[in-house]
Amino acid sequence: MSWVNELARPDIVALKVYEHAAWRPQLERLHANELPWSPFGGDPAGGLNRYPEPQPRALVDRLAALYGVARESVLVGRGSDEAIDLICRAFCRAGHDDVLVCPPTFGMYAVSARIQGAQVIEAPLRSAHGFALDEAAVLERCGPATKVVFLCSPNNPTGNLLDEAAMLRIARALAGRSLLVVDEAYIEFCGRASLAAVLREQPNLALLRTLSKAHGLAGARCGALLADPQVIALLRKIIPPYAVPRLTLDAALAALEPAALEATGARLTMLRQERARMLLELAKLPSVERVWPSEANFALAEFADAGAALARAAAAGLLVRDARSYPGLARAVRISIGTPQQNSRLLEAWS
Ligand SMILES: Cc1ncc(COP(=O)(O)O)c(C=O)c1O
Repeated sequence: MSWVNELARPDIVALKVYEHAAWRPQLERLHANELPWSPFGGDPAGGLNRYPEPQPRALVDRLAALYGVARESVLVGRGSDEAIDLICRAFCRAGHDDVLVCPPTFGMYAVSARIQGAQVIEAPLRSAHGFALDEAAVLERCGPATKVVFLCSPNNPTGNLLDEAAMLRIARALAGRSLLVVDEAYIEFCGRASLAAVLREQPNLALLRTLSKAHGLAGARCGALLADPQVIALLRKIIPPYAVPRLTLDAALAALEPAALEATGARLTMLRQERARMLLELAKLPSVERVWPSEANFALAEFADAGAALARAAAAGLLVRDARSYPGLARAVRISIGTPQQNSRLLEAWS
């Protein structure tokens, strides 16, 4: 049996897949109970009356090229949130298996695990060491029931990159035992390359990528899982049949055109400059006690009075994120880097 089938829920491995309406664009469609006319109210590109292509080939190919992996290693869905959910559902038996996370980190890993009935095990990042990965704790706490380990690099909400060599050592140590999922939602904002280049030699490594952040498509809901083709094939069994809406497909393909990618690159440069300015200026504010370095499109700052900082931002018409509920961040606020004007307004509100 393959390592994926041994690791995954046996009932999912055995699941007979739903047969969605066949995708045969050369034929006229009288097989999916659709209406033959476009909807009233607007259908600029045409075709909204039709169910979309399940894993749209054009988008999968563009993402595979962009991320430097084979098309069989790509699963596209409604944001990386969907991939997180699918992974927990496919690999964890409710009441039996567990998922390991490294707080403070993105909350959806634990939420998706709990929705699935999986136990959540923690190996906290080391706050005294810049929120570094605690490699020994991860390996020590990974037991036979730990099916999935989620790491986030750059990490949300702390903004730091995790040590690449440590992540790869963890992947190797867990080979055949657990899936190591590295969430690279913010990778475009930092100077480090994705781990995509090592996917082939490390089949239990999977990567989360998204068009929500660097590509400015959070409202379209489009993300991808990059993984061993066997993992992708397993998750394709449980992803809802039409996971990429037609409007999302059109918006994603447009954002992945060469000219759009070039313009995105220029925006990323500007965003990094603004991030550098914000990190510097925030640190000068008397109300700010600490600013953490960031490799993402946000800054994490600790205030003498975080409640007052939140209130002053709101009074200036700006919403920043209350990060006080994260473990070890009792006075922290997370600030997404905005336009230069928005950033200046925020600094002024806090001066
Ligand atoms: C680390 C991380 N992963 C994933 C997501 C979700 O991204 P998506 O919009 O692709 O679902 C977020 C959203 O903030 C995030 O911070």
